[in-house]
Amino acid sequence: MSTPVEFRRDGNVGVILIDNPPVNALRHDVRVGIMDGLKAARDDDALKAVVIACKGRTFIAGADITEFGKPPKAPSLLDLIAALDEMPKPTIAALHGTPLGGGFELALGCHFRVAAPGTRPGLPEIKLGLLPGAGGTVRLPRLIGAEKALKIILSGEPMPTKAAVADGIIDEIIEGDLLAGAIAFARRVVEEKRPLKRLRDRDEKLAPARANLQALSELITPSVRRARGSRAPMACLEAVKNALSMPFDQALKRERELFVELLMGEESKAQRHLFFAEREAAKVPDLPESVKPREIKRAAVIGAGTMGGGISMCFANAGIPVTVVESSADALKAGLGKIEKNYRATAARGGLTPEDVDKRMALIKGVVDIEATADADMVIEAVFEEMPIKKEVFGKLDRIVKKGAVLASNTSYLDINTIGATTGRPGDVLGTHFFSPANVMKLLEIVRGDKTSPEVLATALAVSRKLGKVPVVVGVCDGFVGNRMLRARSIEGERMLIEGALPQELDAAIVEFGFPMGQCAMGDLAGLDIGWRKRKGTGQRAPIIDALCEMGRFGQKTGKGFYRYEGGARTPIPDPEVEALIVATSKRLGVARRPIDRKEIVERMIFPMINEGARLLEEGIARRPGDIDVVWVYGYAWPVWRGGPMFYADAIGLPYIRDQLTKFAAHSKDKNLEPAALLKKLAAEGRGFASLSEKAA
Ligand SMILES: NC(=O)c1ccc[n+]([C@@H]2O[C@H](COP(=O)([O-])OP(=O)(O)OC[C@H]3O[C@@H](n4cnc5c(N)ncnc54)[C@H](O)[C@@H]3O)[C@@H](O)[C@H]2O)c1
Repeated sequence: MSTPVEFRRDGNVGVILIDNPPVNALRHDVRVGIMDGLKAARDDDALKAVVIACKGRTFIAGADITEFGKPPKAPSLLDLIAALDEMPKPTIAALHGTPLGGGFELALGCHFRVAAPGTRPGLPEIKLGLLPGAGGTVRLPRLIGAEKALKIILSGEPMPTKAAVADGIIDEIIEGDLLAGAIAFARRVVEEKRPLKRLRDRDEKLAPARANLQALSELITPSVRRARGSRAPMACLEAVKNALSMPFDQALKRERELFVELLMGEESKAQRHLFFAEREAAKVPDLPESVKPREIKRAAVIGAGTMGGGISMCFANAGIPVTVVESSADALKAGLGKIEKNYRATAARGGLTPEDVDKRMALIKGVVDIEATADADMVIEAVFEEMPIKKEVFGKLDRIVKKGAVLASNTSYLDINTIGATTGRPGDVLGTHFFSPANVMKLLEIVRGDKTSPEVLATALAVSRKLGKVPVVVGVCDGFVGNRMLRARSIEGERMLIEGALPQELDAAIVEFGFPMGQCAMGDLAGLDIGWRKRKGTGQRAPIIDALCEMGRFGQKTGKGFYRYEGGARTPIPDPEVEALIVATSKRLGVARRPIDRKEIVERMIFPMINEGARLLEEGIARRPGDIDVVWVYGYAWPVWRGGPMFYADAIGLPYIRDQLTKFAAHSKDKNLEPAALLKKLAAEGRGFASLSEKAA
């Protein structure tokens, strides 16, 4: 096998060239190669400088995360950077692409950094629940100041090239051949006898933050709020503060300890699980790679309401022209107006230029004539959630749209097979379930009908990537993966309201668990009337919500729902009128109210979801437990650091969940709460849901 690192001499410059596709991750043999190169360069008197560069699309973009949690193998990245620190000759990192994480930290160990145009360095560790663990929190503040460094560490995002140059992270941009330019730069450094100041010896940039530690602490507030309960942002702050208050080596040692602490903890484990689950979810085992997606050059969306508008924006954002069809000129005007308002708001925040807005709006063509969909390569229907209307629309599409087009429905619950059967081409039909707001939420549940052709499925996956979505392929059932599990949670929530809890108590418990909002606040946001209208005439009841709706309390849109909303604000305020209604409902149903503590609330909301998840796996609607986790994290804001419901279930232990569900079922006399067969089986065998994926792999 060829080695992934080559060492060569170019005159008086030693070159360490790394070639470990796809992203030159710092795998063990790469580290060995770099160390060998550094030693060879150090020991050869004819060599006066060392350049580290990479082949392929990027400079080292991080550690090999499959090695995380395994026993470390020397040399570590820290050993490499220590060797750089000891190097008596100039060291130059030649950067391109996205030097991320350990790659960026290695570059910070060099005396100089040159880069190709467009290079975007970053420290994404926080996205895996970690902090930069190879000197990033100690060296970067010394290079650019603690405040800027902490911002980069907390964001996890690669930084713009311009900022990296302005801050002195990149010493010089090299146009043309990067390696040749880096070697020339190295020679200049030698000839000019430029001083070799190591970052570890620099202190001057730390002074402003030392004088204002409070400002530094305040930087983490938004991250803590966003990460709701995750420990990583606090650890990042602590490490950067250490860089200010401790001698270099001590701060470095403490950074490592914090890194290992996070690495071993459940939170980072959960985030790493999601990292892999997301990649896995895009793979469909019975969809061979030989199946090529159809090309989507123009799209159409039926309905310019909440979802249709957002979906149209997704296409326009990806540069794909889209025709939006509405049923009336007024509805069309309202829909297009909302889209434009959305774009203008983003532009006002600096997220888009006014020209971008115009360009995107120009890609969206509104019409009231469905015949205009004839030449679309993909049509997504987003009309009202009623089967007769969907059937009518698909009947028309079948007649109008050219052969070979993909016909998709954004339905939240309805049967894709029934919808497909109303056309003469069910193989071209599938569900593409976007989440609200569709232009923001990352998840796309791709619902595969019994007759959906492999090519159409491959097309939906390819489109989802183009739109920047995270796809999860699911089967047909009422509510698919996400909404079916959500329903299990809602039923139990309503039951607890009747037994003794108040909306603010339910919501506080679930927010404390890590969700951004509880189900009552969420119901108010989405509109309580949607479910109420759907239940009408079906005999199904949700006593509290139905009573609220009968009082005209539909949620935020009417200023009142589970909560009160004052002056158009979105802040939920508990309302004594609602409390009275809930207490009266309990009385009417003959239930003696009792206090329900947070632990019970959380278990009774989350465990039924896990149970439903187990059924989805049994039925093959969800293919892997990780798929369910991805759905919940990207579609329903499940806290990432808890890894998704199925990962969480394994962490809690399935026997406990089984026993609690058995108790809940007996208490509520609800058969649905009885533990699913798969849950019981795994619990009895001492296994977790994760073992299903291991077997499948
Ligand atoms: N709102 C959500 O959070 C959400 C999330 C995921 C999926 N969905 C699903 O998306 C679909 C649309 O939901 P929504 O919230 O956008 O509804 P909406 O009421 O906001 O919009 C529906 C739009 O479709 C238009 N319409 C109705 N019949 C039409 C026809 N025959 N031709 C053209 N336009 C027609 C209406 O005028 C309306 O503007 C539903 O199937 C819903 O279940 C909604």
